[in-house]
Amino acid sequence: MSARELLRGVRVAPSILSADFGRLREQVSEVLDAGARVIHVDVMDGHFVPQITLGPVVVSSLAEQARNAGAMLDVHLMIERPERHIADFVAAGADSVTFHAEATPHVAYAASLVRDSGACVGVAINPGTPVGALAEIAHAVDLILCMTVNPGWGGQPFVEHSLDKLPRTRAILGSEAALQVDGGVDPETAPRCRQAGANLFVAGSAIFGAEDPGDAYRAIAASVGAD
Ligand code: DX5
Ligand code: ZN
Repeated sequence: MSARELLRGVRVAPSILSADFGRLREQVSEVLDAGARVIHVDVMDGHFVPQITLGPVVVSSLAEQARNAGAMLDVHLMIERPERHIADFVAAGADSVTFHAEATPHVAYAASLVRDSGACVGVAINPGTPVGALAEIAHAVDLILCMTVNPGWGGQPFVEHSLDKLPRTRAILGSEAALQVDGGVDPETAPRCRQAGANLFVAGSAIFGAEDPGDAYRAIAASVGAD
């Protein structure tokens, strides 16, 4: 299945941000074995958000493992001026690249760079950014990410008002493209997001903070009737 087809399904995307990086491959195997086909990779630069996480080297270290399992790497850039780094992440093996609308004055240009590189295009907005910020770009994306926490950390509580934005985002986006939520997603919040129009559910601490990440993945997947 192509990355574009994977993104169109109802899927839970484990975020490796909350994984044990000392045994990253093993942790990724646990969720792949449980059925995950979208692995979410959070890139933070210490500027757009306070933390620094990982770069293309880690993406390339996971690319083969994901590909062998028929899965994709969904790279979420929480970095300023993403247009400067898109090529490196795609060369490292990113199948989709999502950048923040707040992080560059050149959203359409950045989207075209992702598109031309052959990866799927995603644009993200923070809880405080209005849905209208997406109006002129929605036609050119494969995925919109409506953050359901303020980006920068795993394990934060779900921001309730972000739920209200989902039907409005879905209306701008149409039924073909993916609507992703990220932050505070668990078996209680995921079905509410599904009801509001989301089809991709990123979960970090609810999966990798659990004793058995495979079981935790399956619980969220079951809560939304994942493909
Ligand atoms: C937050 C990241 C998320 C993070 C979510 O800035 O974009 O992907 O891993 O973590 P949880 O699921 O713990 O809220
Ligand atoms: Zn993320």
